[in-house]
Amino acid sequence: MPTLQFKGKSVIETYHHTVAHHRLEFDAKLSCLPRGEKPSLEGNLIIEGDNLLALKALLPTHAGRVKCIYIDPPYNTGNEGWIYNDNLTAPQFKEWIGQTVGKEGEDATRHDKWCCMMYPRLQLLWELLADDGVIMVSIDDNEMHHLRAIMDNVFGNGSPGDAESNFVGAIAWRTRNTDNRVKTNLSVDHEYALVYRKTTHGAWNGRVIDRSDFQNPDDDSRGPYVTDPLTGKATAAQRPNLHFVIVNPRTRDRYEPDPSRGWITDKAGIDELIADNRIWWPPDPNTGKPRKKRFLSETDERMPESSFWADIRGQSGADEVDQILGKRVFEFPKLTEFVARLLDVASPRDALILDCTAGSGTTGHAVLKLNDRDGGNRKFVLVQQRHDNKRHEADGLNICEKVTAERVRKVIAGYSYTKPKRGGGTERTKVDPLGGSFTYARVGEPLFTEYKNFGENLPDWDTLARYIFYTETSRDIDMKKMKPESGLIGRTEAAGGTAYYLLYTPNKTEDRPLGLDELKAILTKEKGKARALVIYCEKIWMHPDERQRLEEEHGVRVRPMLVPFNLR
Ligand SMILES: C[S@@+](CC[C@H](N)C(=O)[O-])C[C@H]1O[C@@H](n2cnc3c(N)ncnc32)[C@H](O)[C@@H]1O
Repeated sequence: MPTLQFKGKSVIETYHHTVAHHRLEFDAKLSCLPRGEKPSLEGNLIIEGDNLLALKALLPTHAGRVKCIYIDPPYNTGNEGWIYNDNLTAPQFKEWIGQTVGKEGEDATRHDKWCCMMYPRLQLLWELLADDGVIMVSIDDNEMHHLRAIMDNVFGNGSPGDAESNFVGAIAWRTRNTDNRVKTNLSVDHEYALVYRKTTHGAWNGRVIDRSDFQNPDDDSRGPYVTDPLTGKATAAQRPNLHFVIVNPRTRDRYEPDPSRGWITDKAGIDELIADNRIWWPPDPNTGKPRKKRFLSETDERMPESSFWADIRGQSGADEVDQILGKRVFEFPKLTEFVARLLDVASPRDALILDCTAGSGTTGHAVLKLNDRDGGNRKFVLVQQRHDNKRHEADGLNICEKVTAERVRKVIAGYSYTKPKRGGGTERTKVDPLGGSFTYARVGEPLFTEYKNFGENLPDWDTLARYIFYTETSRDIDMKKMKPESGLIGRTEAAGGTAYYLLYTPNKTEDRPLGLDELKAILTKEKGKARALVIYCEKIWMHPDERQRLEEEHGVRVRPMLVPFNLR
């Protein structure tokens, strides 16, 4: 299989493994929660920070749980002013770091930088995606070809429409209704959304059928129906048995197929359809061919979605965001309806949805709008860095706080805006609340430094427990089952049942050791439940022989691990 080569690839392919785990620190003031509800990682989340660090920090709690990912990364047009910021130590990257990526012809490595930026992020998104999950990435012709090659590498390739392919297809959507007077005289009026799935179980819903299409002009007892063509593509030469006259038994009208398009089935098949009154006869035989009835009761709620979306009205959601936030604060947000449509065709109504290039928060708005529309229980995780470009940095404008979160807060509570009235003057428009809530969090310090110490600010028990469970099992954790007082983090079925414990207190004056008493207490508690124990603790106060004796006595293997020394 041909593969994409770019500067830095050999380093970047495994870089996501070396990215440090950072803590996610809640900000209750910036969260939008019902009275008395505590910030948590369970509900809707808005995370401020670099998405590479945020995605890594989400692994312990969200790995394999995200049903749908939608991202809208910088298109690398040379106009966005995106900054290459990944902290790569390899000499060839030094000159890249902190630099705004330039235009074609100005910056020879701009495509390499883009590929290096996207690769590790897509690998972490792969880990977060559920086995039956779907990922969609907005892109235009600047990097479409590179993105496809990278996603073939990370998600697996294949041919669109092929059941074995992880590449589902590329949606092309109309982005402008007026042509672009470009020198090349080819007005590029579309962009793409690339669609991949993690495995062939990936559930691409397709669009909801429009029930209003189903009518019942002849009061068929089987209820409303639509009609499908009764003609196929076989010519008379190819399939003579599909070319014959059909007679309407009631009116005796005769119908003959065109020589190039025979009926969909042979005489016996058509007779069966007629006998079962499954043929719709045109009122006037000269105006059309008979068609086949398809009843609503026999039709799936979802049907294939077209890959060509020409009906998207308007290019950007800037007007929408202006109305919500009262002024222009974000250049090219996507339309909420466009993102809502993507999410609706790509994910179930209780999906956990992730967007790590949140921008003005359109994905959060789209999720709340869909839930309001169909009673769904979707959840969103949005990630947005503080500054989108050097100008924001200079102005100290925190995009995540002042745009992403503010917009979602407004649509949750409802808002109003003034718009010009036809015939002059203005009118105030009120938009109803969509409801919902979210926790605001920031990417905090690394969980521990490269020398495995926690530094001054010790992590809390939950954060460490989640990290240990993930690095031990690569699975996300059921936070409701965690018991800080006994130290129980969780269990897996591995090795006949393994229980994971953390004996740790986030203060520097006190240690939680694993001594004989602690081990006996855990062994008693785990009797008949676990065949293996992995116990992280701050001190080990027993001789290996004593541990071995207890292991043999209880028929359980015990692996003590020192915190932070043995953390993976
Ligand atoms: C094209 S915009 C997304 C617009 C969004 N879809 C909307 O409708 O508003 C890309 C966003 O990704 C953010 N972004 C780019 N690189 C990032 C990174 N490394 N970490 C977090 N956010 C990042 C940018 O700041 C920008 O807001």
